[in-house]
Amino acid sequence: MKILILNGPNLNLLGKREPKIYGSLTFEAYFKSLEKKFATIELHYFQSNIEGEIINKLHEVGFNFDGVVLNAGAYTHTSVAIGDAIKGIETPVIEVHISNVHSREDFRHISFIAPNVKGVIAGFGLKSYDLAIQSFL
Ligand code: DQA
Repeated sequence: MKILILNGPNLNLLGKREPKIYGSLTFEAYFKSLEKKFATIELHYFQSNIEGEIINKLHEVGFNFDGVVLNAGAYTHTSVAIGDAIKGIETPVIEVHISNVHSREDFRHISFIAPNVKGVIAGFGLKSYDLAIQSFL
């Protein structure tokens, strides 16, 4: 089974960025623990701050991977184009958020991703990614 974890803008700063909200672990360190835990799965990881690169990656894996775990960061709340890309591919996508976006500012309650995904997991810290992977098993 092939699963891609796809992180959007500012998530390269995990560990340093607003640690009260997003924690103090880097994603690279967390990814290593996921690789250990899900040793039978072929896990891939890609991060970009650029909307078009996220779309290109969805197109690249969208007909040959078994799942995508997508944290589109702030693009979640703005990107019609990422929403359309998810609609256009066959691979199921799970939307994840580290924080509980529904307990934060109103603009974070809107998602252009959610109508096009299999499910949404938010608010469990980095564990949100773990739960999303488990949903594909
Ligand atoms: C986030 C929530 C978004 O609102 C925010 O813009 C992020 C991170 C999260 O994982 O909690 O960059 O997607």
